[in-house]
Amino acid sequence: MFWSILTIVFSTFCAVNTFDISAHSNKTMATKLPSKMKAVGLYKYLPISDVNSLIDLEVSLPTIQENEVLIEVKATAVNPIDTKQRAPKPNVETAPRILGWDGAGVIVAKGDKAGIHNVGDEVFFVADLRKNGSNAQYIALDEILAGPKPKRFTFEQAAAMPLTTVTAFESIYDRLLISEKDKGKSILVINSAGGVGSIATQLLKHLGLKVIGTASRPESEDFTRKHGAEIVLNHTKDLAEQLESVGYGAGVDFILVNYDPYPYWDTLVKVIKPQGKICLIVDSSGLVDIRVLKDKSITLVHEMMTTRLKYNTDDKFRYQDILQIVSKMFDEGKLNCTLTRTISPINAANLREGHRIIEEKKMLGKLVLSGF
Ligand SMILES: *[C@@H]1O[C@H](CO)[C@@H](O)[C@H](O)[C@H]1NC(C)=O
Ligand SMILES: *[C@@H]1O[C@H](CO)[C@@H](O)[C@H](O)[C@H]1NC(C)=O
Ligand SMILES: *[C@@H]1O[C@H](CO)[C@@H](O)[C@H](O)[C@H]1NC(C)=O
Ligand SMILES: *[C@@H]1O[C@H](CO)[C@@H](O)[C@H](O)[C@H]1NC(C)=O
Repeated sequence: MFWSILTIVFSTFCAVNTFDISAHSNKTMATKLPSKMKAVGLYKYLPISDVNSLIDLEVSLPTIQENEVLIEVKATAVNPIDTKQRAPKPNVETAPRILGWDGAGVIVAKGDKAGIHNVGDEVFFVADLRKNGSNAQYIALDEILAGPKPKRFTFEQAAAMPLTTVTAFESIYDRLLISEKDKGKSILVINSAGGVGSIATQLLKHLGLKVIGTASRPESEDFTRKHGAEIVLNHTKDLAEQLESVGYGAGVDFILVNYDPYPYWDTLVKVIKPQGKICLIVDSSGLVDIRVLKDKSITLVHEMMTTRLKYNTDDKFRYQDILQIVSKMFDEGKLNCTLTRTISPINAANLREGHRIIEEKKMLGKLVLSGF
């Protein structure tokens, strides 16, 4: 495996498409990539208070396929998906599982058919849930999942953004089909101060929509206003009543639900305008009745960032398009970073602390770990 990585590095550097290592052997490159790397992973799915829930590992570098790049990870974000994947269950892995589904770093090798990026490029990326993730010094990825790191951002800032931004972008443009034509329309964003909520709010404001956010604490209310929510409701109280009191008694055109929809279901159905659209991005904790949507001809859509990758859809390249578009928007100042907390270095103890913070469900914006 070590040799196959080296060979790919050499063929990249020498700009030849060959796997003949002897012809391109170079000691400089050999010392560049170590054979082992630090990583944080798990064998057992345990509560985060257990020191074995995430452990320090030393493992071989991942091998890369012809369409993949190998990235040296500089920073990795922690998202609710990490804690969901790590949640206690009886399974025991025979090989360690490495979590972490977005981050930022530098490309150090690429496969023969990887033509988007060059070795040395700084990138930010989303990862593939079926593979090992970014809680490691190196990660191998389909190259379409890596985009140019916004130049204005540090690696930590860049690592905070890909997963939430791709999710928000797909929700808004590809699922709700919102575009410039919807300028002036209203959208209720439930849990607008969280990771996806805080970037979705910015994207929606950029499109000219009227964003009504929800938050329950003064600091989360401030945070979501700063990111573009014009009206902020208190989601611990009746949202329909509050909407009425701020002039939206007739309802809203769209709803983006960045939270378990189950406790909100009746409210969503009540406050959506006839022919409106609702997008869910979190699993429902209970069964909901979709029959009630018919009377108002409501469209219900879902967003799962991994769908295009998992099912290898014809439009899979969309990840690359989105990463390039938003990278430019970050550099132009049309979107801001939502990083609020950085912990260093990347190790098991700090990742356990990161997961613990996410599990409290009070996180504003994003949490990133950096450096090894
Ligand atoms: C190979 O190594 C030499 C130094 O030993 C270096 O000058 C050269 O750039 C390296 N070639 C490649 C392709 O990295
Ligand atoms: C994750 O990494 C470990 C350690 O190198 C390896 O044994 C395992 O097969 C990898 N898992 C996947 C899904 O690639
Ligand atoms: C939201 O409502 C709860 C319950 O009444 C209250 O404790 C909290 O302070 C309110 N939050 C804000 C930001 O006003
Ligand atoms: C980004 O942040 C700057 C500085 O706080 C602010 O002036 C600007 O309006 C923000 N841009 C967006 C799109 O929120």
